Amino acid sequence: MLNNIFNYFARFFDPESAHKLAIKFFKQKNIPFNFFKCKKEQSLKIKVFGINFENPIGLAAGFDKNAEVYNTMYSLGFSFVEVGTVTPKSQNGNAKPRVFRLNDDEAIINRLGFPNEGMEKIYERINENPKLGILGVNIGPNKENATDQIDYLKCMKKFYNRVDYIAINISSPNTPNLRKQHEIKKITDLIKILQIYKSSQQIAKPIIFKLSPNLNNNEIDRLSDIFLEKKIDGIILTNTTITGKEHLLDKNKNEEGGLSGKPLSLHSNIVIQSFYKNLRGKIPIVGVGGVHDGKTAYEKIKCGANLLQLYTAMVFRGPYVASKINRELVCLLKKDGLKNISDAIGVNAK
Ligand SMILES: Cc1cc2nc3c(=O)[nH]c(=O)nc-3n(C[C@H](O)[C@H](O)[C@H](O)COP(=O)(O)O)c2cc1C
Repeated sequence: MLNNIFNYFARFFDPESAHKLAIKFFKQKNIPFNFFKCKKEQSLKIKVFGINFENPIGLAAGFDKNAEVYNTMYSLGFSFVEVGTVTPKSQNGNAKPRVFRLNDDEAIINRLGFPNEGMEKIYERINENPKLGILGVNIGPNKENATDQIDYLKCMKKFYNRVDYIAINISSPNTPNLRKQHEIKKITDLIKILQIYKSSQQIAKPIIFKLSPNLNNNEIDRLSDIFLEKKIDGIILTNTTITGKEHLLDKNKNEEGGLSGKPLSLHSNIVIQSFYKNLRGKIPIVGVGGVHDGKTAYEKIKCGANLLQLYTAMVFRGPYVASKINRELVCLLKKDGLKNISDAIGVNAK
């Protein structure tokens, strides 16, 4: 029934209007969204960043940009939700249309450019809606400050005591120059600024960096060295890609923006494997990019991911995709004779 409603949204509305309707729908208080939620499974429980996760599947940043529906998302089977990207000031983002469904590829291209209501309003909303599960906030700079680092600190200070982890978005392709934050000098400075703030706080919250998939081997090696040296808490691999569109089938394939969904899967797996080999399990990895069923989730864990996130699969496969993936993962683990999901991490990256 819920899947039918979603298919209807997707068939008859442009992607951004469909998303708006979905958010409105998930705000309904009188619908028992947890109807299809899979039961808690011992084999899926995992501790990462010192936090106990019920299962490894989280909702990626971008779906609940303004922190409106995160509590409903736990009912759908996600063990954690990342809201945002949030910037200090509200901003409109790029001109519409700016989100494109690629039905033939089970993919999306978006060039949203961080439209959001700004940190004050979003902070108030989180304050008024106590979280019912693990909540992360993904933060980024306003467009005009893309190469500065002050906006990250502003947002971090605002949310630090309200959420379970902070994700530092340096990888959206839709904010010009943002990806320059990957440069060694810049990221070293950014880590330093954020770690100084963290060490001034009573409680240590994980600060994890969300990276681009468009990194070469040399960049991956150099970033890994810095991450190990600075002992960062974790990384999210990956954001959307700006390459690889030439192989797509859909008529929308030449739209400008970041590509997500099925075609990103292999690419993000390669990046995860490369980082995992360098980091040797010392820094946890959240794998994201094209996860859409148990098999693709399991593959990412085998490449080295401790946790997973998804967004695009929910658009194409409906709101219960996380529950379905969890059920399939339980079967895959059983088939391989593994007691817990953590036993599979990195087995294909040795
Ligand atoms: C419409 C859309 C908006 C997104 N917005 C954000 C965002 O604001 N911040 C962010 O870090 N990632 C954003 N992402 C990227 C996702 O969080 C994720 O990294 C990417 O889509 C790959 O995962 P997927 O293939 O499961 O969608 C967005 C993705 C989509 C499709």
